[in-house]
Amino acid sequence: MFDFAPGADAPKSEIYHDLREAALAITSGESDGVANMANIAALIWQFLPDLNWAGFYRTVGDELVLGPFVGKPACIRIPFGRGVCGTAAASAATQLVADVHAFPGHIACDGASASELVVPVVVDGRVVAVIDLDSPIKARFDQEDAAGIEALAAAIASAVAGALTA
Ligand code: SME
Repeated sequence: MFDFAPGADAPKSEIYHDLREAALAITSGESDGVANMANIAALIWQFLPDLNWAGFYRTVGDELVLGPFVGKPACIRIPFGRGVCGTAAASAATQLVADVHAFPGHIACDGASASELVVPVVVDGRVVAVIDLDSPIKARFDQEDAAGIEALAAAIASAVAGALTA
């Protein structure tokens, strides 16, 4: 059993530090990328409040394909360049969207989503996956959240890459 205990009232810097440590601990010694993504999605859900979706899309060929997540069932395939996830993958840049309804081409998977944060996971200069977080609260994510998830993505990149097929 894994028993991680996120502090509900802790400052964001502490939450992201603890989330990263937990993710490194739970993926340590495990090369199965699907298992690692599943556990990391569960940890994100456990550590971060006010989410309605948290998980991964993986690069398969020239599109993103749904990976392990917590939340409602979601669209399965997203072409590079489409929606918030496809934009993050195509540009290899974090997308911090305060109001998804104002984002051109946003793909609505859960009607409750109001804001979104998508961070590319990069291995050897290639986007192998994205981490996608949705919140029912407008402007739920700020620069500190973006930096926290970027640090997480960098820390766990090799742990998720094991399951990625070209
Ligand atoms: N909103 C995303 C699609 C994925 S769901 O949010 C889980 C997008 O626009 O790419």
